[in-house]
Amino acid sequence: MKAKELIEELNIGGFAPEITCDTVKSGDPETELKKVAVTMFATVDTVRAAKSWGADMIIVHEPTYYDHMEVIIPSIVEERKKALIEESGIVIYRYHDHMHHREKDQITEGELHYLGLEGDFERTPYSASYILKTKTPINALELAKRMEKELGIAHVRIAGERDKKSSTIAACFGTPDGVYELLRDENVEIVLTGEACEWKLAEYARDAAALGINKSLIVMGHIGSERDGMRLLAKRMQEKYTSFETKYIECGEVYMYTDK
Ligand SMILES: [Fe+2]
Ligand SMILES: [Fe+2]
Repeated sequence: MKAKELIEELNIGGFAPEITCDTVKSGDPETELKKVAVTMFATVDTVRAAKSWGADMIIVHEPTYYDHMEVIIPSIVEERKKALIEESGIVIYRYHDHMHHREKDQITEGELHYLGLEGDFERTPYSASYILKTKTPINALELAKRMEKELGIAHVRIAGERDKKSSTIAACFGTPDGVYELLRDENVEIVLTGEACEWKLAEYARDAAALGINKSLIVMGHIGSERDGMRLLAKRMQEKYTSFETKYIECGEVYMYTDK
């Protein structure tokens, strides 16, 4: 199978936007595939790891050059990274919009799957934000600990109510629209997100809890909140495709800590 044929198959599903960031960023789409790496970010280290594994293609969720539509603003970093990628000859394909805009958001599905949160999630008016009604009530502390254990996030942060049981959770993985609006929704008890504006979102949750309202904001980090969607994609590709090998490459969280 060629890279362009795999891309065509991945994109089946009724989502065909006029403008999308889901394009080939580097390499030749005619490349015959033997090894395909799946990762969250094409970091310098994941490109090197893919290269030493012998990958022909890397499927990523996020931009490689720090801009959503990959408009490259030249500096020594972009120049060196581009040289590294071009020298590798690997096809890089960004798979972002299709992941989120399927009938069922594939990133959200992956996160909830590996988190072991059962219950259906429903769309909200906000793109890539969902409401989950959990079968078993859970509090923010238990949920954060589960994220650290099952998703490997080094430090999950909680603002607001930590201990009261909740069953209405807004899943706003990454940094989608509607996080503030869903946090303010009286029916929503816990909001999960990748990145948050502290002075606005976290302080709203803190005040809400201090006023006796069951409201929490859980900040997972951008990578921690989305990479499991790519992990699930890699697993499904391993099961579906036998003409090439698929491997999930972990890009790791972007921050380091003093204790880990
Ligand atoms: Fe994202
Ligand atoms: Fe995303």
